[in-house]
Amino acid sequence: MTFEKNILCIGAGYVGGPTMAMIAHKCPHYRVTVVDVNPERIAAWNSAQLPIFEPGLDAVVGKVRGRNLFFSTDIEAGIRDNDIIFVSVNTPTKSFGLGAGMTADLQYWEKTARQILAFSHSPKIVIEKSTLPVKTALAMERILNCREDGICFDVLSNPEFLAEGSALSDLEEPDRILIGSRETDRGLRARATLADIYANWVPRERIITSNIWSSELSKLVSNAFLAQRISSINAISALCEKAEADITEVARAVGMDSRIGPKFLNASVGFGGSCFKKDILNLVYLCRHYGLDEVAAYWESVVTINRFQQERFIETMLGAMFNTLAGKKICLWGFAFKANTGDTRESPAIFIARRLLEEQAELVVSDPKALLNARADLAGVDGSVRYVEDATLAAEGCHAVALLTEWDCYRHLDFERIFGSMVQPAFLFDGRNILDHGRLYEMGFNVYPVGKPPLVHF
Ligand code: NAD
Ligand code: UGA
Repeated sequence: MTFEKNILCIGAGYVGGPTMAMIAHKCPHYRVTVVDVNPERIAAWNSAQLPIFEPGLDAVVGKVRGRNLFFSTDIEAGIRDNDIIFVSVNTPTKSFGLGAGMTADLQYWEKTARQILAFSHSPKIVIEKSTLPVKTALAMERILNCREDGICFDVLSNPEFLAEGSALSDLEEPDRILIGSRETDRGLRARATLADIYANWVPRERIITSNIWSSELSKLVSNAFLAQRISSINAISALCEKAEADITEVARAVGMDSRIGPKFLNASVGFGGSCFKKDILNLVYLCRHYGLDEVAAYWESVVTINRFQQERFIETMLGAMFNTLAGKKICLWGFAFKANTGDTRESPAIFIARRLLEEQAELVVSDPKALLNARADLAGVDGSVRYVEDATLAAEGCHAVALLTEWDCYRHLDFERIFGSMVQPAFLFDGRNILDHGRLYEMGFNVYPVGKPPLVHF
């Protein structure tokens, strides 16, 4: 069968896999191939046990895999045989050298650029899907356009805005698709080609275009704004606890202003995930690079408040439990950085677990999808940790439960039974404010929400 377009994605991760599955699903007339350097990951994409948990993903991959979606480790053939190449490799925070702890580590990305250069026998459109510092496309262009055989490459920026846990619906009905290009004839033609791919299912008015630097920067700024809202509400949650106000009531009143809006105002134990902190630090580094120290300090404070919120949670636990956690059993409900994903990258649970172990607490970690990752995150950490998938069994014999991920299953537990199985007085710290605090208090729990007065039995 011949396909209208042949599309490649380099990087079979949380973005590359679901995004390409959606393109293949919506465009049966295109052949989509996803390649990765990691053979285990590719084997998992080709198996019944996909490498990531994402609601709805199994069904979509099941429909298109082997039809017009293929996963492979053959990067050379992938580059040779496809004209449109998405690059969706990881761009973590650099952990060494200049800019360590702040700027993006571009080694995976640059390696990809050089592979494209080496294996191409025809012109390609190369699309930055990874989140990158502003002006990265320029470096990509400089690497790619150093060929002497006249083969040209057009570099586009097409940042991804999906959130884990809702990736499939975000991809199916995106708020916007952003395509940045050079404003030359070639650049505009490449931009139109990519827009045509999305137009198979996204209304044209949602496909917006810009110059390439605006596109790169818009991605960092979108994440910075989202994280800023969470840090804003979390900062106010600290004040609520002092002032006997209720953060849920404040968020509702504030969010009803249509200029502010109600989303992303849930106070929590802090934001996690592989991107918010990384992208803000990237933005901060860029601002410092351009001598904008005040702008850098402003955005850096979003990360500072996030860490403050996590530390505050530990202090609340310590204060509530008579200033000692040594030898006490504490159950963590949830280890994923948010509900509906098994991803634990930068999860607040990692920081909290480590801090509790420093206090010599004994941990029982529970999560419906993230226990494998949790084990890896806590491997080698000193202290006692058990992993129990069932939330009710995990809480048995514990002095306290700390709810860290807003999994729906935690709302519907048999709390009477759980209370009866715990050491008394039993403590419940709701780091996501999703439980019925009044009811739990009536049952006998000492309840500590975020940003609300605690409900304590004396
Ligand atoms: P990930 O770590 O899950 O996946 C990246 C994949 O790239 C890995 O499987 C890795 O093996 C592969 N890879 C690295 N170098 C390679 C090379 N030279 N050739 C082939 N494969 C290579 O990362 P992710 O979460 O999918 O994120 C990818 C990018 O997308 C990042 O820049 C991230 O900031 C951005 N992003 C992520 C999300 C998200 O929700 N995770 C959302 C929007 C944007
Ligand atoms: C986020 C953005 O929402 C996506 O648009 C973006 O594409 C992605 O980052 C990225 O670039 O990687 P994601 O991190 O998957 O997506 O998940 P979010 O829903 O944004 O949640 C991030 C963190 O904030 C989670 O820990 C979540 O629990 C927390 N959060 C979210 C709150 O604490 N309160 C809220 O009101 C909302």
